[in-house]
Amino acid sequence: METLAARFAAAFEKLGADSKFGQVTLSQRPELGQFQCNGAMGASKALGQKPRDVAQAVIDAVADPALFAELTIAGPGFINIRITDDVLAGVCARMAASDRLAIAKTASPQTVIVDYGGPNVAKPMHVGHLRSSIIGDAIVRLFRFLGHDVKGDIHLGDWGTQMGMLIFELSNRQPSLPYFDANFTGPYPEEPPVTMDDLQQMYPAISGRCKEDEEARHASQAATVELQQGRPGYRALWQHFRDLSIAELKADFHRLGIDFDLWYGESNYDARLAPMVEEIKAKGIAVEDDGALVVHVAEEADKKPIPPVILLKSDGGANYATTDLATIEQRVRDFHADLILYVVDKRQSLHFEQVFRAAAKSGISGNARMEHLPFGTMNGKDGRPFKTREGGVMRLKDLIEMMTREAHQRMLEANVAQEYSEEERNEIAQKVGMAALKYADLMNVRTADYVFDIERFTKFEGRTGSYLLYAAVRIKSILRKAAERNLAAGTILPPSCDEERALMLALSQLPEAIATAAQQRMPHHLCAFAFDLGQALSRFYNACHIMDEKDAARQASWLALMTLVLRELELLLGLLGIEIPERM
Ligand code: ARG
Repeated sequence: METLAARFAAAFEKLGADSKFGQVTLSQRPELGQFQCNGAMGASKALGQKPRDVAQAVIDAVADPALFAELTIAGPGFINIRITDDVLAGVCARMAASDRLAIAKTASPQTVIVDYGGPNVAKPMHVGHLRSSIIGDAIVRLFRFLGHDVKGDIHLGDWGTQMGMLIFELSNRQPSLPYFDANFTGPYPEEPPVTMDDLQQMYPAISGRCKEDEEARHASQAATVELQQGRPGYRALWQHFRDLSIAELKADFHRLGIDFDLWYGESNYDARLAPMVEEIKAKGIAVEDDGALVVHVAEEADKKPIPPVILLKSDGGANYATTDLATIEQRVRDFHADLILYVVDKRQSLHFEQVFRAAAKSGISGNARMEHLPFGTMNGKDGRPFKTREGGVMRLKDLIEMMTREAHQRMLEANVAQEYSEEERNEIAQKVGMAALKYADLMNVRTADYVFDIERFTKFEGRTGSYLLYAAVRIKSILRKAAERNLAAGTILPPSCDEERALMLALSQLPEAIATAAQQRMPHHLCAFAFDLGQALSRFYNACHIMDEKDAARQASWLALMTLVLRELELLLGLLGIEIPERM
């Protein structure tokens, strides 16, 4: 598409029009052409000529029989384009010969920090954290593939009032523990006094109580302040809570195929909050407002009011925003971040707008660019945010088990992998379940809400991860059969039929799909492309019977084509964080 666009841009320029009119897109009407250029209409105004005349002049200027099989004008001046089969096969051959499928690395590699996941220690995870993890992981993989230096940071919520609540709750349950004895001089026990299950049970109990019981609320708040001021027993307890949570989170995320590079948390920035606030104050951009210290960030052009960022609340405590500012400062200072991407729920858009402005105004962000990549909610069928358990508790473990169980069920119904050992079947079911979950999430335009429908997500037909796994595995099986018969892949020949031509055209669009997904930070482009490729592949199978083909050169070409399809699917699914089984 790039090559075509360059040719058309040059043609428009030659006619004295702007090169921007040379844009080429995939055709909306494949029966008329493979590509189209709609620039003649726009250029005609600038040139003072009839659009169809401009279109004809462009066609005359680009004419190149080696490249174009057909150039026609439709309607008011659309140019329909077909390229020659030789060129199309050549593009596929070039991709097949390249270990990166002819996708260049970026010419300007950047240090990119992706802030995603963001679960809160000892507090239940919710779908916002799940979505953030899945989308963030795809963004990390995509940017890394393009050659950027990427660090994914989980940015744990490990410093909020939930920590004080848990300390207070434990002090009621086990008051004789040394952590609560202000005179205790240590050392504190190495083993935590509670288990993760205890914490999961304690949190809803105390947070429920705090809603009704003012005394409990104050005590929890006080414990939080003491913790943050460094009371040794509370710090030691906090460390236990944090370690327990991190161990569970690491294990569960690993099963999800998501491994964060950095396990920093809000607590990491605590020591910087006070001095940073002082520095901002010294720059004269922080002002007192009703006892609080704020930075005004509203701008003339704002369409809606943007409230000031509160650095210090009237009780002197720092805020979520203050921590985020200190985090930006650290990322710029220690990692020299060029770009920081925040994959966080769209309900936090205002927060990030405020923080980014305050970071720029105070000079904290330096030359780094910051972007919030918001996403919508994953809802249950009741239209409310999805939950895996009563009481709003979502444990990744539960979710993974649920997806795997459902995958087993679909596999049974579709008679997939039933003849394999139980061990292999379990492994496949886990992969099918994770593919289903991730694809169902990533296929949506990031900002949209969607409904969690586990039965549909795991189906082997339609736009699902299972369907794509099946497509990839089917190629693997064909290639295995070919290898058994000593059939090798050969030179990719020009297509022999429309279905093969369409498959090649689809294959050739990979670089655009990846570039668009990265530019827009929108993984759904990868999902849509993978699905289209899968569809083109099915149509090809119906028309062309690889293993029965008598013409050896043709058969060898098809095997090369299948290898290319498989490599594209592997790349795409890999970028989505989806693992493909060897067989199914
Ligand atoms: N822990 C936060 C929450 O649960 C998400 C953190 C997002 N990242 C950030 N840098 N603020 O809402």
